[in-house]
Amino acid sequence: MQNVDVTDRVWDHLLAIRAGKACACCGGPWSTGERGALDLYAPLARRDLGPAVVAQIGQSLDGRVATLAGDASDVSGPDGHAHLHRMRALVDGVVIGIGTALHDLPRLTVRLCSGQSPARIVIDPKGRLADDAPILREDGTRSMIIQAVKQPRPAHVEVLQLQLIDGKFDPREILQGLREAGLNSLLIEGGGITIANFLDADTLVRLQVAVSPLVIGSGPIALTRNVQHARLADCLRPDTRVFGLGTDVVFDCGLTEAAHAATIPPHTVT
Ligand SMILES: NC(=O)c1ccc[n+]([C@@H]2O[C@H](COP(=O)([O-])OP(=O)(O)OC[C@H]3O[C@@H](n4cnc5c(N)ncnc54)[C@H](OP(=O)(O)O)[C@@H]3O)[C@@H](O)[C@H]2O)c1
Repeated sequence: MQNVDVTDRVWDHLLAIRAGKACACCGGPWSTGERGALDLYAPLARRDLGPAVVAQIGQSLDGRVATLAGDASDVSGPDGHAHLHRMRALVDGVVIGIGTALHDLPRLTVRLCSGQSPARIVIDPKGRLADDAPILREDGTRSMIIQAVKQPRPAHVEVLQLQLIDGKFDPREILQGLREAGLNSLLIEGGGITIANFLDADTLVRLQVAVSPLVIGSGPIALTRNVQHARLADCLRPDTRVFGLGTDVVFDCGLTEAAHAATIPPHTVT
């Protein structure tokens, strides 16, 4: 496991990589913890590797995201929360399902680190989100709804109109629509249903699972895929790097060749 120490100077360097003003192999010298921060975040910050879609979920030791009563506010510890905000600051857009938008009323802005807030995107096929939801607030950050119904939205909210196929949007069509809107690097922030849809469609470059030392006992499970395998040998066993954040541990799972390439500093790529 690599320990991660996000000092101001390594974070500034990561934001410079994101802005195309620095590269992942330069700068330093870095401490071991700063090197861990570069290894964890540079694959997301780099723009030379093309579009990237990364999902992240924070869960308890027993794989849950909330209590049965619906308390989901602090499954992740303070370092897990800060990690999520850093991930937001490194991408063009952050995507959630309508279940999360209605349950958590998130703003999806960057508040626990420096950096720009990404565009906020809600997948809401039936048009269930109220126009005054926090995520749609007119605050200078882009807001977008992906919907199937023809429902008018406030002028500052962008609408991506897609057709349902067997009751679902094809995640590849979602990504194409977002790329046409200029959003190439994306964080799929949850919940589990939304992440599973992107995972099952083979659209994720990486899946990050942040585990917090907490046992909830009963409550919704983080991730349930829509596939079944009888044998463990046939299940997904991704190439995984493990990072210690402090209060939480992140399993960073590479799902494609591109994920592997992103973990190699540019100067060592042949
Ligand atoms: N711990 C964490 O990291 C984390 C992060 C986020 C959320 N959460 C928790 O997760 C829970 C909510 O998660 P959830 O899994 O129940 O719901 P969700 O993933 O937030 O939303 C699922 C809904 O979004 C729509 N949707 C998503 N993908 C779609 C697609 N490809 N095509 C069409 N519709 C799509 C559907 O809406 P319709 O039902 O309208 O068809 C679907 O039922 C909350 O308790 C929240 O607190 C935890």
